[in-house]
Amino acid sequence: TWNAVPAGPPDAILGVTEAFKADKDPRKINLGVGAYRDGQGKPYILPSVKKLEPPFREISNANVLSQAEEIVQASTPDKEYLPITGLPEFTKNAALLAYGADSAVIKQGAVSITQSISGTGALRIGGEFIARHYPHSKVIYLPVPTWGNHIPLFRDSGLEVRGYRYFNKETVGLDFEGLKTDLKAAPEHAIVLLHACAHNPTGIDPTQQQWAEISDIVKERKLFPFFDMAYQGFASGSTTKDAFAVRHFVAEGHQIALAQSFAKNMGLYGERVGAFSLTTADPAEKARVDSQLKIVIRPLYSNPPLHGARIANAILSNGELYSQWESEVKGMADRIISMREKLYNYLQKDLATPGEWGHIKSQIGMFSFTGLTTPQTKALAEKAHVYMTADGRISMAGLNDSNIEHFAQSVDAAVRD
Ligand code: LMR
Repeated sequence: TWNAVPAGPPDAILGVTEAFKADKDPRKINLGVGAYRDGQGKPYILPSVKKLEPPFREISNANVLSQAEEIVQASTPDKEYLPITGLPEFTKNAALLAYGADSAVIKQGAVSITQSISGTGALRIGGEFIARHYPHSKVIYLPVPTWGNHIPLFRDSGLEVRGYRYFNKETVGLDFEGLKTDLKAAPEHAIVLLHACAHNPTGIDPTQQQWAEISDIVKERKLFPFFDMAYQGFASGSTTKDAFAVRHFVAEGHQIALAQSFAKNMGLYGERVGAFSLTTADPAEKARVDSQLKIVIRPLYSNPPLHGARIANAILSNGELYSQWESEVKGMADRIISMREKLYNYLQKDLATPGEWGHIKSQIGMFSFTGLTTPQTKALAEKAHVYMTADGRISMAGLNDSNIEHFAQSVDAAVRD
C-alpha cells in the first residue's frame, strides 16, 4: 500500500538530536535544538517547577501503602478534560504576562485567548484561524532566515509564504534597510510574522527605536502583525523588557495575533504549554472569535493537556513562586551570556581563529548564528562530534565549562581547514 511513499528528509532541527543520540563518542556536544542545559550539560528542571511536581518515586513492596498515600496526597485533584480553549486561569495569566498587568485591551475584555500545544500549536491555530477568517489576504511574510518550522507550518495552514529581509551577512547584524524596503513593498493587508524577542535563528533583535519604525510601516501598509514570542525572558533576562515589541504594537493601536510558548522560559518543553491570542475590537467581537477558535481546535486535538498548564498557572498566580521563577529565568539568561563571553574570548583572543567573532557576544537569547558554513557544520559533526543545524546556528545553552574548550578548538580547526 505504501510502496510509493518516498522517504522524507530528517527534520532540520530535531534530526540533529537524532544524529547526536546515535553518536557514541564521549566528547559529543549537541548544540542543535534550542533546549536549555545547566552548567553540567544536564536538562534543567526549574526549582519553581519542581516544587509543584508530585514526588514520583519507585514504590518498594515494603511500604507501598504509605508511599502510595503520599503520592495521592501530593497529586493534583483530577484528570478531567479541560475546556477546548484550556485552563481559564492559565490563559488569563498568560495574557497578563504578555500584554502586561495594566494592559488596556485586557481591561476592556477584548483579548481572545486559548491554551495551545506549546508555541508550535499556537502558531498553527493562528495560521488555521487566519486562513479561514482573515478577510483581506492569504499572504504571510516571514523573516529570512526564520525558524525552519515556520515555513511548512504556515504553508500547511493554507497561507502563501513569502520572505522579508532580516539578516545582513556582511555586518552579521540586522538588515534594517532591507527589512523596511520589503515590508513597504508588501501588498496591503498582508500578514507579517515578527519574532517578539530573541530572534531564532540569528539572535539579532531590532532596537526599541527600530521596533517603533516597524510599527509605523505596518500601520502605513495596513499589514497584520503576528508575533511569535517563544523566548519571553530569555533575551534580556526580564519578561517585561522582552515583551516590549508586543506591548508597543498594542499601545499603538494595532490588532495583533500572538503565539506564546512556556517551553523555554519555564523549561516545560515536553509538557507542551503555550497560548494563542488575538486582540479584538470589543467584547462582542472577542466572543465571536472565541467561538471560532473552538471550532478550529476541536477537530485538531479536542482539548489541550492539563498537567503543564496547571504548573505554569501555579507559578504565574503565586507571588512568591513568580518572583522565584523570574530570577530563575534570569539565571538561565545570565549563564548563556557568560558562555558567549567565554566563547568569544577563546575564538577571538586565545586561538585567534580567522574571522571576526564579536557577533557571538552581541547576539542575544538562546542562539548564536555563527557564520559557519554547511560544509563546516558537517565537518564538525564528523570530525569533532559537535552537532548543530546546517545553517550554522548553535544553541548557546548546550555549552558549559566542561565542553566549551573542545567546541572552540573544533571550530578553529574547521575554519582553518
Ligand atoms: C528550536 O528552534 O531549536 C526550538 O524551537 C525547538 C524546535 O522545536 O525546533
